[in-house]
Amino acid sequence: MGKRPLVICTDPGIDDFIALSMVLSKPEFDVLGMVALSGNVGLDVTINNALLACEYNARADIPVLAGSAKPLARPARSASNIHGKSGLGASLELYAEGKPSNKNGADFIIEMARKYTGKLEILSLGPLTDVALALEKAPEIAKAIACITVMGGGIHAGNATRYAEFNIVADPEAANVVFGSGVKTVMIGLDATNLCLQPRSDIELLRAPTELGKIVPAMLSSYADVYKQVHNIDGMMIHDAICAVYLWRPELFTCMKCRMTVCLEDGEHLGQTMPEDGDTCLAATSCDAQAVREEILSVMKRVVAAH
Ligand code: RIB
Ligand code: CA
Repeated sequence: MGKRPLVICTDPGIDDFIALSMVLSKPEFDVLGMVALSGNVGLDVTINNALLACEYNARADIPVLAGSAKPLARPARSASNIHGKSGLGASLELYAEGKPSNKNGADFIIEMARKYTGKLEILSLGPLTDVALALEKAPEIAKAIACITVMGGGIHAGNATRYAEFNIVADPEAANVVFGSGVKTVMIGLDATNLCLQPRSDIELLRAPTELGKIVPAMLSSYADVYKQVHNIDGMMIHDAICAVYLWRPELFTCMKCRMTVCLEDGEHLGQTMPEDGDTCLAATSCDAQAVREEILSVMKRVVAAH
């Protein structure tokens, strides 16, 4: 079986950086490119951090494309309170050597869908703005994309608001376009990721005499500090890394078939994801949290040992 062609949309973000490092370490993926967009922090910072993820994982050959600087129809939100101004934690200020491609994210998604018709997978770790723009610009690619795996949403949980998860409520119109497009989606939301509390003690196990062996513990220490200060939680949920695990260990997740809908009404339910009867979306309702945590730790131990 050939490699799995994959485009990653991302707003790094500490948990994005961990997820990107894990995916880049898996030989079964042909990571065609990363579309960096505004989400946790602004576009310039997420582009820099996506370039850093490629460079620190010895994959500077992978193109980083500039995605959207703002949502389809609303002002941009931010999660810099969690990820710091640098997007990679309070203690890190790193600058990439490379530059982004001159192609924009949505056009790149369209080009890859046409090139890898029926095989292209998309991993979305941030707002769905660029996936939505691509589907609106070239609706026919809905049939060409094999699957979009989304870190986002929550059937019984929210984090950005009481009812909505950050990636969805950051651009609810985009999420509505994607879930309504007919493309096969997998939604790994808070119902699964909130179960996977990674203990702070795991951070020390990721310290190594390498570049990543230094910066990954720094990132995660900052992330764990914020979880304590903001959520009063000992440990952290590395949401995007948990979602990435689905790509090669789907059996660890319990999912329900549905048609996913998104509340677009202003008010406390804005961005809430609600399953209806249908079969275009596999939504995670839970997961084997211990096995997912162990998978993240074992993959990341190899990552920090290697780079
Ligand atoms: O709710 C968690 C999601 O929002 C993650 O993707 C995190 O990086 C933020 O973007
Ligand atoms: Ca993210």
